[in-house]
Order: sequence, then structure tokens, then C-alpha cells
Amino acid sequence: MLPGQHVYHGILFFGFSPPDTLEAVREFGVRGEDVFIVTYPKAGTTWMQEIVWLLLNDADFAGAAASPVYMRSPFLEFKDDVLKEVGLDIAEAMPSPRVIKTHLPLKLMPKQLFEKKPKVIVLFRNPKDVCCSYYNFYRSSSSFGDFQGEWPQFLDMFMEGHVDHGSWFDFTKSWWPLNGSDNFRFVFYEDLKMNLLEEVKKLALFLGKTDLSPEMLTKISDHCSFESMKTNPMTNHEDVYSIDSSVSPLLRKGTVGDWKNHFTVQQNEDFDREYKEKMSECSSPIPFKY
Ligand code: PPS
Repeated sequence: MLPGQHVYHGILFFGFSPPDTLEAVREFGVRGEDVFIVTYPKAGTTWMQEIVWLLLNDADFAGAAASPVYMRSPFLEFKDDVLKEVGLDIAEAMPSPRVIKTHLPLKLMPKQLFEKKPKVIVLFRNPKDVCCSYYNFYRSSSSFGDFQGEWPQFLDMFMEGHVDHGSWFDFTKSWWPLNGSDNFRFVFYEDLKMNLLEEVKKLALFLGKTDLSPEMLTKISDHCSFESMKTNPMTNHEDVYSIDSSVSPLLRKGTVGDWKNHFTVQQNEDFDREYKEKMSECSSPIPFKY
């Protein structure tokens, strides 16, 4: 165990998601107008937060330039004792429509999720790229017990679910059966990369934002390109004290297939074998693109 870890309902968390916060999340007052962005860490959460916030707020670029995305779109299970920043408090004080980020598996979500029927966007990214991105984030962030390990050690931790927010496999299996349900939309990072504007248009339809002009949708898509978000201080988290961007910034590479620069041939074969085993009870195969 790295310092600061705890296990809650069988899932590993660090101190910024303490047990009392995770308890309180279960009782969180969901509103029908809410939009939840559900991701395993490093799946492109920040990207989706910025897209959805702009869509729901009628392309308010001035508003997006006035405060960091993590303040406009609170992180449900996050509590920072240094900054006195509590995701639940920020969300509760916010007018609707709220864009709420979470990395929780289904079983830890607010009890009112199915009663209030908010819109839920589940963003998936191929797990090999997630693992690489997470490794680099662990190296740069002071939130994970000052991790000093190397890639092979992190890969083992990832496969065992011994990382913050637990197993990617369990998280993914918990949400995938809801694909196709009303109010739920499943999106793949690789599709955002392939054709961002098309995906922005589909998201606008899902969110009922049919009044946004094609020009505005194009502007949102341009604003949310990797290059634009990387240099935008409101989206690149350069002010977040716990991230040392000189080691690895949050917007690091933003590509599909970076895993090929990390995995050895053997590690890749082992990953594929373990993926098959761990995902065998999944409701249906998930069409990841590598
Ligand atoms: S977090 O901390 O879990 O919320 O991180 P998250 O935002 O989910 O993931 C960070 C990775 O998403 C990439 N990213 C993007 N890729 C392409 N285009 C845009 N606009 C974009 N914004 C964020 C970011 O670069 C991280 O991936 P890697 O592979 O590390 O670069």
C-alpha cells in the first residue's frame, strides 16, 4: 500500500476521496437536469467536461475563459483539504444544468441516479492507452503517495486494480450493461479523436441542444482540440498544485496508440490474455479501437 490509500467497498482510493465523502456521494441530491460524465481516470474526462459544459451553456466562451473547467464541472467524489475544495459542495451550490464528473463504478453512484434520470455520458478509452496515461499521471502527481515506481510495476498495479479508483476492468463491466439505456450515451475517446466535430454534433443532439448553429458547433470543436486545450490555462490544469507538469502534464500526448511506446511484446500478450479472462463475464464485447 502506498501512503494515503484506503479501501472502500473493495475499491482502492486515495485521500482526496475519503470514506465520508464516498458515503455522502450515495446520498447526493441528483437533479433531472444534471449531466454526469462517467469515466475511469485518464479516459478523456477533461475533454468531455469542456465539450459538454460549452454545449449546455450555449457556447459561452467568455464563461469558459473565466474559470477552470474543474470549477465549472465539479468532481463528485473529490475533497481537497489544502484548497478546502469539496466537489459535493460545489455541485450542491450550482444552478442547473450541472456537468458532474465522476470516476466511480456504478455501485458507488448516488442512490437517486435511476430515480431522477439525469443524462449520463460514459466515456471509454482503450485500456492500454488509459494505463499509459495513468502511469504518467502517477509520476507527475503528488496525490498518489509519491509514486516512484517504473512502468512494469505500474502495469502490474493497474492489472490488479491497485490504483486510485480501483480496477479498470470492474469499472468498465459495471457500466457497459447500461449501453443502449434511455438517458445514457456511451462515447469512445478514439471516436472523438477520429472526428471531433461529428461527435460534438451527436452529443448536442443527445443533450437536446438543437438550437446551436453549425458555426457554434464548429467553434466548440475547435476550442476542444488537443492543441487548444493544452495551451488553455482553464483546461490544462497547469495551476493545480498537486500536478508537476514538468514531469508530465495532464494534456500529455492526446493520441491513440501511445501504448505501443510503453508495452513490450510480452506485456502486450499478457495484457490481451488477462483482458480476455477478466472481461469474459462482460454482457457483450466492447468495441475498443487501438
Ligand atoms: S483525469 O485526471 O482522470 O480526469 O484525466 P482525463 O482528463 O480523463 O485524461 C487525461 C488524458 O486525456 C487527454 N486529453 C485529450 N486528448 C485529446 N484531445 C483533447 N482535447 C484532450 N484533453 C485531454 C490527455 O492528453 C490525457 O491523455 P494522455 O494520453 O496522457 O495524453
